[in-house]
Amino acid sequence: MKFRYYRDMEKKGLKKLVFASNNKHKLAEARAILGDKFEVVSLEEIGCHDEIPETAETLEGNALIKARWVKDKYGFDCFADDTGLMVEALDGAPGVYSARYAGEHCTFADNVNKMLREMSGKENRKAYFATVIALILNGQTYTFEGKVDGYIATEPHGEGGFGYDPIFIAEESGRSFAEMSSEEKNAISHRGRAVRKLADFLSK
Ligand code: IMP
Repeated sequence: MKFRYYRDMEKKGLKKLVFASNNKHKLAEARAILGDKFEVVSLEEIGCHDEIPETAETLEGNALIKARWVKDKYGFDCFADDTGLMVEALDGAPGVYSARYAGEHCTFADNVNKMLREMSGKENRKAYFATVIALILNGQTYTFEGKVDGYIATEPHGEGGFGYDPIFIAEESGRSFAEMSSEEKNAISHRGRAVRKLADFLSK
């Protein structure tokens, strides 16, 4: 399967663009939008197995750290994303700490369960996802943002997606991201919106 993917890319002669991620869901979402113009290459595919420290206090700061890491250590122009889930009743938490919400080496399920516990009995369930993409291209740095409004469900819904998808109900569809096809999610999601801004910029 992987072999055919590369052969097809080579045939198309696409320009390579590194996405500083090894998350297969994020890579698929980005490839669905950028894939006819760029060969979106993962960290693994450039031989990067580093635990890139995400020590900034903003999404933009972390996206910049990841993009600069790849440029400085591996020499590739690239883009990186950082995403946070901001929950109104939790004063914006977990926000920039969304990946480690339930602890340092927690799973997606641990995070979902902690969120359901913290939100137990809360009436205000408003939340949003935000993504910042940092792009380093020809020595310049650019950022792109995407946001989607919704609310936190009282229990998981659906089997698709990843992370908090089963408990994030998108306002404009009334369904959880995990109940949507990848096309439906990408059309309205925080990352889909940010990647489309990146794609528009790159097509100019
Ligand atoms: P990251 O640091 O950008 O990888 O994301 C921070 C946290 O948000 C991780 O726990 C992810 O699982 C979660 N996350 C990022 N993007 C999404 C998404 O599209 N849906 C659900 N959870 C997400």
